[in-house]
Amino acid sequence: MMPSEFRRLPAVFLLTLWLSLPSFAVRIVPKPDHLVLKSGSYRLSRETGFVHHPKLDGEAKWFSELLSAEHGISIEKRRSGIHAGSNVLILDLDSSLTAEFGSEGYLLDIGQAGIKIIGASRAGAFYGLQTLRQLLMQSEASGEVKKSYSIPYVEIRDRPRFPWRGFMLDVSRHFFDAEVIKKLLDEMALLKMNIFHWHLTDDQGWRIPIPKYPELISVASRRDSSQTGMHETDGEKTFKFDGRPHQGYYTHDEIKAVIRYAAERHIKVIPEIDMPSHNQAAMAAYPWLSTTGKPSTVPTVFYGEPYAKNPAEIDISNPRVIRFFKDVLDVVAELFPSDIIHIGGDEVWYDLWAESADINKFIEIKGFQSYADLQMWFSTVMSEYLSTKGKRAMAWNDVLGGHLENPDPAHTLTVDFRPARSTVVGFWRGNPTLIEDAANRGYDIVNGHNDFTYFNFGYQGLPLSKVYSFDPIPSNMPFKTKILGATCHLWTEHIPDRERLYFYLFPRISAFAEVGWTEPTNKHFDQFVKNLDVLKEHWRKVGINYAEE
Ligand code: ACM
Repeated sequence: MMPSEFRRLPAVFLLTLWLSLPSFAVRIVPKPDHLVLKSGSYRLSRETGFVHHPKLDGEAKWFSELLSAEHGISIEKRRSGIHAGSNVLILDLDSSLTAEFGSEGYLLDIGQAGIKIIGASRAGAFYGLQTLRQLLMQSEASGEVKKSYSIPYVEIRDRPRFPWRGFMLDVSRHFFDAEVIKKLLDEMALLKMNIFHWHLTDDQGWRIPIPKYPELISVASRRDSSQTGMHETDGEKTFKFDGRPHQGYYTHDEIKAVIRYAAERHIKVIPEIDMPSHNQAAMAAYPWLSTTGKPSTVPTVFYGEPYAKNPAEIDISNPRVIRFFKDVLDVVAELFPSDIIHIGGDEVWYDLWAESADINKFIEIKGFQSYADLQMWFSTVMSEYLSTKGKRAMAWNDVLGGHLENPDPAHTLTVDFRPARSTVVGFWRGNPTLIEDAANRGYDIVNGHNDFTYFNFGYQGLPLSKVYSFDPIPSNMPFKTKILGATCHLWTEHIPDRERLYFYLFPRISAFAEVGWTEPTNKHFDQFVKNLDVLKEHWRKVGINYAEE
C-alpha cells in the first residue's frame, strides 16, 4: 500500500487496527484480565537460568520437565536466590498480592532482564507458568528455530472471575482409564481449570472398589453389551447393541495416583457417588438394595426405557441400605482428600417408590406427605453424615425441591428441613430462579445449566458460541458471591471411545474455561476463536482430535 493511500484510510479504522494488534499478536486462552504488549522480545533458551521460591519446588519441577519434554530445552537451575538479572526466569510467590490478584492470580512480566512470574499463591504461580507455556507454543507456531524461543515483551496481570472452574466426566456409561483421566487433567491445567468432578457410579457401571461390598466390582463394574441406538416405528421400539462386554474400574492406588497428579496441577478431584437413584448396577450386585429385591443384571440400555428390564428403585426405607451408602461414603471420604463429596440426588423414580409397600409404610411412619419429602429426608441424612466427617456434601439441585416442574402432589415437597447448609448445590436444570432460592437458603451454588454445559449434546444444539456465551450468574441475581462458578459436563452414553471423547470435549472445554476465568466485559467470541489457533496446534500435537465447527 502506498503512503498516500494509507493516509486516506479513515482514522477510526487505523485506531481499531492499532487497538487490536496486541490481541492478534498474543493469544492466551482463557483471556487474561489485563495484558500490555510492549515492543521487543526476549529469547528463552538453554542458557536461560531458572530461579524459584523454595515453596514452589513442585511447580518449578513440573515446568522444567515440561520444557524439556515439549520443547527440548533444559533450563539451568540457579541457586542464587531471587534477583532480577539478565536471562533468567524467576518464579516467585508474594501473598501480599492477593489484595490485587485474589488467591489464584499472578503477574507475568517479560522484559530485557528475562521473565518474572509472581503468584499471589502457589496456584497463581502455576497459572503464570501456563500462560508462559501458551506464549512458548505460539512462538514455536510462528516458526522459531527449535530450542530457542522468542517471546514478546509483555506484562500480564491476571486473576480468575470464579474460584470454581469445573469439568465433570461420567465414567460409568463408558469407562476411561486413569491414563485418559491424566491426559484430561493436563488439558484442564493448561486452561486454568481447577475442579475435576469424577462421576464414578451410575446405572450402567460402578467404578470404585468398596472392600465391604466386593460385588460392586465383580458384578457391577461389568455389563454384557452397550446400546448403540434405538428406532421407534408405530410405537414399537427397537434397540441396537454392540454385543460386546464393557467393563472397568479404578483400583484405590490408581485413584490415589490420579488425585496426586491432579493436585500437582492445582486441580481438586471431587468424587460423585450418585444416590439414591441411578443405582441399577449396584442393585444388580446386591438385590437387597432394591424395592423389589429381585435379581437383575447391569443395564445395557442407556435410553429409551432404561428401567424396563429392572423396574426397581433403591429402597431407602431399609436401614441396611442406609448403612450401605454410609459405608460407601466412609471409604470415599477416606480416599479422597477433597473437602467436598458429591452425593448425586438427581432423578429419583418416584413411580417405582410408589409401587413399594415398604416405602409407602416408611413414609407413613415418618409422617411425610410425598416422595419428594422422602428424598429430602435421605439427602439430609447423607449430607449430615458427611458433615460429621468434616466434609461438605455436593448434590444436584433436585435435592432442594423434589422434581422441579412436576405439579403432582406426590412430587411436592412439604417438609421444612433441607440438606446440611454446607452442601454445594450443582444446578443443572429447571428455572434459574431455583438458583436464587438456593442462595436465599444460604447454599453455595455451582452453575451447570444443561443448555450450556452438557457437552454430550451435539455441536448443532450446543455450538462453541453458545458455550462461550454462558454467564454462570443469572441476570438480576442477588447474592452473587454464592455462585462459586461453573462446571461443564460430559455424559458418556454416546461416547464409547477416546476419539469421541476428545471430539465432544474439544474445543468446547476451552470456551468454558474462558467462561470461568474471564470477566464478561473482557470476553469477545471472535477474538477467542482466533486465539484458539494456538490450542488447536497443541491439540494436534498431543493427539486430541478436536471438532472443527
Ligand atoms: C443429570 O444430568 N441427571 C444430573
